[in-house]
Amino acid sequence: MLRYDAILIGAGAAGLHCAAMAGQAGARVLLIDHAPKLAEKIRISGGGRCNFTNRDATPAQFLSENPHFCRSALARYTPQDFIALLQRHGIGFHEKHRGQLFCDEGSERIIEMLLAECEAGGVERWQPCAVRGVRRGEGGFEVETDRGPAAAPRVVVATGGLSIPKIGATDFGYRLARQFGHRIVEPRPALVPLTFAADTWAPFAALAGLSLEVHIDAGSGKRRTRFLEDLLFTHRGLSGPAVLQISSYWRPGEPVTIDLAPGRDLAALLKAAKTRSKRQLGNELAQHLPQRLADTWLARLGLDATQAMPQVRDRDLDALGASLQAWQLLPDGSEGWRKAEVTAGGVDTRELNQQTLESRLQPGLHFIGEVVDVTGWLGGYNFQWAWASAAACAAAL
Ligand code: FDA
Repeated sequence: MLRYDAILIGAGAAGLHCAAMAGQAGARVLLIDHAPKLAEKIRISGGGRCNFTNRDATPAQFLSENPHFCRSALARYTPQDFIALLQRHGIGFHEKHRGQLFCDEGSERIIEMLLAECEAGGVERWQPCAVRGVRRGEGGFEVETDRGPAAAPRVVVATGGLSIPKIGATDFGYRLARQFGHRIVEPRPALVPLTFAADTWAPFAALAGLSLEVHIDAGSGKRRTRFLEDLLFTHRGLSGPAVLQISSYWRPGEPVTIDLAPGRDLAALLKAAKTRSKRQLGNELAQHLPQRLADTWLARLGLDATQAMPQVRDRDLDALGASLQAWQLLPDGSEGWRKAEVTAGGVDTRELNQQTLESRLQPGLHFIGEVVDVTGWLGGYNFQWAWASAAACAAAL
């Protein structure tokens, strides 16, 4: 039986980073992954440029049934720590939008960096290699694999979430957690486009390709959340950052509410324009919204786009403003695991130690990264959680 200080299952973002840090701190580490290709999610992330962190990451940008859990790890390993690692490897990066940092040359550079860090830590990697089972053994755990058994006092589960099954996502982490008595917060697709029934969407299908900044709201009570982001109309529904962000908070059966002219009072602006504008209603509305959206909206409400502004009734302008600024839509679902960037839910953090990510039920068993019930917003936060939870765990191996 081959013996290690720690066996990590899952060589994605969290697993690679944790293995490297633990190895460099002196632990004898085995890293196992069943996928033939290494770290595919890093490779495809951020459109191939990997939005590897967000400069402004704080616990406020994470969802969890136990919202304070992520604080400790995020505070101890910050975006600056990961930036310093990139700088040591001479990897260039740039900020795109609201603190989102991307690699100049592409995500492959991050994978190369993590691999080099693993090598520096003497990490042994078995890949592709399936894990058949994990059980308690003498002095810790025995892991049964395609390449034979291995044993260690500590096992780290870094097998990620359920999104994009075709590149290797499995429910292994959840099954293992349950096997050892852990509760799972029901996993659900997050950061995912929302879909609508064909007849609900028919009037808007002509808007496919249009993008604009909106306020979007969903959820009720304490879950009520609002984002100011770009919305993209597609043939099947809504996408773009606004919808991806709100999808993490949305629950089936709930509406989403969209303000297509955030920060303005459209009805008041249009009513004020009646006294000074000689434009037609359609053209006046297009001063505030893309022309295509203005035309579609007026047709949908049965308003005459060619009517001269002074003739338009105030109550029609009030109804127009309300429908554009409190547009309520009932999604019939989401594009699901096939398109979700992340999984919300996962191993219940109330049963994990926030300093070490170790199970409170099974000493020596750790869960890190996306398999845990901590989910970041769009914008580099999910990788920051992977790095930070990996670092917290590595210090305990
Ligand atoms: P990750 O999924 O990276 O790794 C899990 C590993 O476990 C995989 O290598 C898998 O093969 C392995 N595994 C699974 N089951 C196994 C089993 N049974 N046995 C052995 N191994 C097993 N985030 C962000 O912050 N910025 C971004 O730009 C993006 N972009 C992005 C784009 C797309 C298309 C997706 C799908 C996701 C993103 N993300 C993102 C999210 C980000 O990729 C994700 O949160 C992290 O990769 C999670 O890191 P983990 O290491 O936890 O899981």
